[in-house]
Amino acid sequence: MRSKAVVGNWKLNGSLATNEALLEALLREIPRQAATACAVCVPSPYLAQARALLDGSGIAWGAQDLSRYEKGAYTGEVSGPMLADLGCRYVLVGHSERRSIFGESDALVAEKYAAARRSGLTPVFCVGETLEEREQGRTEAVLARQVDALLHNGGAKQLDGGIVAYEPVWAIGTGKTASSAQADEAQAFIRGRIAGKDAAIAAALTILYGGSVKASNAAELFAMPNVDGGLVGGASLVAEEFVAIWRAADARR
Ligand code: PGA
Repeated sequence: MRSKAVVGNWKLNGSLATNEALLEALLREIPRQAATACAVCVPSPYLAQARALLDGSGIAWGAQDLSRYEKGAYTGEVSGPMLADLGCRYVLVGHSERRSIFGESDALVAEKYAAARRSGLTPVFCVGETLEEREQGRTEAVLARQVDALLHNGGAKQLDGGIVAYEPVWAIGTGKTASSAQADEAQAFIRGRIAGKDAAIAAALTILYGGSVKASNAAELFAMPNVDGGLVGGASLVAEEFVAIWRAADARR
C-alpha cells in the first residue's frame, strides 16, 4: 500500500491574519495521527507562523521552492537547510509556474530536487504538459523528458521517499480538471518510466494529481490506481474544501 498525501499549495497568497484563521480551521478537522499525510506549502515568510501553529499536529508544513545553493552570496534565495531549520517536511520542486514564469529548466529542477534531499526534506517533484503539448500528442514525451532529467541527475534512488505530482498545466487554476482516466494514464506512464530504472521504487512511489482538484472531484480522482492523493492550489485556501479533499484521500486507505 502506497502512502497517500494531500498537499496544499498556497502560492502567493495569505497574510498573518488569514493564515491563522485557515490553519486554525484545519487544525479542528485533521486528526493528529493522520495516516494520510496532510501538508500546507506556504509562502516562506509565513513558515515560522506555520510552525508555531502546526507543531505537534497532524498537519505538516513546507515551502514552494528552494535554492539549489546551501548558503553564500545568493541574494533573495532560501536554502534547504533554512527550510529544514524551520521544521519543513516538504518542498515543492519544479512547479509549472516556476518553470514557465521564472524560466526554471529541467536541469535546475533536478539540482533543486537533490538540494532538497540533501537537507532531509521531502521534495514534491512537479511535472506536466501544456495544452499545446497535449494537443500535439506530446504528453508522454514531455513527461519523459522531465522525469529523465531527474533520473539522469542522481538516479532513481533519490525518488525513494520522495513524491511526484502530475499537474497538467492546462488544468492548473483553470477550473478544468483532467478526467480521472487522463490523470491515471499519465501517472501510470510516469510510474512506468521510473520502473524502467527501479521497479521497487516506482511501485512504492507516491504520485499526486494536481490541477483544479476540488471537494467535488477529489473522490473520483483518488479512486484511480495510480493517483495517491492531490496537490491542491486554489481549494487549499478554503478550509472546508481542503479538509474534504483530504478526507477523500484518507477514505481510500
Ligand atoms: P489549482 O493549482 O488547484 O489551483 O489548479 C494546483 C497547483 O498549481 O499546484
